[in-house]
Amino acid sequence: MPTLTQNISVEEGALLAQLDRARMPTHIAIIMDGNGRWAKERGLSVQHGHHAGRQAVKRTIEACLQLGIPYLTVYAFSTENWRRPASEVNFLMQLLEQAIEDELDELKRNGVRVRVIGRLNEKLPQTLIRKVCQVIEETKHNRKLTFTIALNYGGRAEIIDAARKIAVEAAAGRLDPRSITEENFHEFLYTNGTPDPDLVIRTGGEMRLSNFLLWQLAYAEFVSTPIYWPDFDKKELIRAILEYQRRERRFGGRNGDYQSDAR
Ligand code: IPE
Ligand code: IPE
Ligand code: MG
Repeated sequence: MPTLTQNISVEEGALLAQLDRARMPTHIAIIMDGNGRWAKERGLSVQHGHHAGRQAVKRTIEACLQLGIPYLTVYAFSTENWRRPASEVNFLMQLLEQAIEDELDELKRNGVRVRVIGRLNEKLPQTLIRKVCQVIEETKHNRKLTFTIALNYGGRAEIIDAARKIAVEAAAGRLDPRSITEENFHEFLYTNGTPDPDLVIRTGGEMRLSNFLLWQLAYAEFVSTPIYWPDFDKKELIRAILEYQRRERRFGGRNGDYQSDAR
């Protein structure tokens, strides 16, 4: 992200013109999938796929900054991804560590606050944890974009961790279990302080959540694109936002003019 100068192609300009700036999502969450298939189709190793995926993350942060999206969350490594071969897992951990090191200065310059959610006290390499703590600390006052990385993250693990915190507080007599509501439960989640995503994008064409932000995505609009994550760019992001803007969010209510039998 050396500069944020915008070299806009005709195609991108046409997409940008369709955006309704008054109805932009506040928080976009992304399930970055398809690195393996992207590599396989090119006769490359999965490591090459993840490496290309790293560039897509960079492009997406840059696009969010340009579009004025204040919250971006990406699913980088799930609690289930430990099932992959050790060589792939180790590569992913090193890639993340290297990415944080390489990008730290630019993230700071561009006003990006980095947050990391997941079971950070389990299984992850110490060197990575040190880098994670450093980037969180050094970007904590930035406000232009809050960029959250879900790392060793599982939606069920997050809810279990919240339940445990609540149980500990209640057992110590510091919390009345009846005071827990849907409104304040989020204070016990890793994402405390971040609004729920409005839009969740999954690349790679699958239609599942794969244990991502189970609580927070209750009313998010889901957009699945067949594009593999390494091919994702600003145009794809704008297309997903346009799809989001075509949706009608009802939150269980009934919009518009309907006839009712109720008297
Ligand atoms: C997503 O790409 C990246 C991670 C899960 C870290 P995949 O590696 O899952 O790519 P596919 O699904 O095998 O194509
Ligand atoms: C979801 O992708 C997890 C991440 C993007 C980190 P997976 O490739 O692990 O999901 P499944 O296995 O297809 O459900
Ligand atoms: Mg996958």
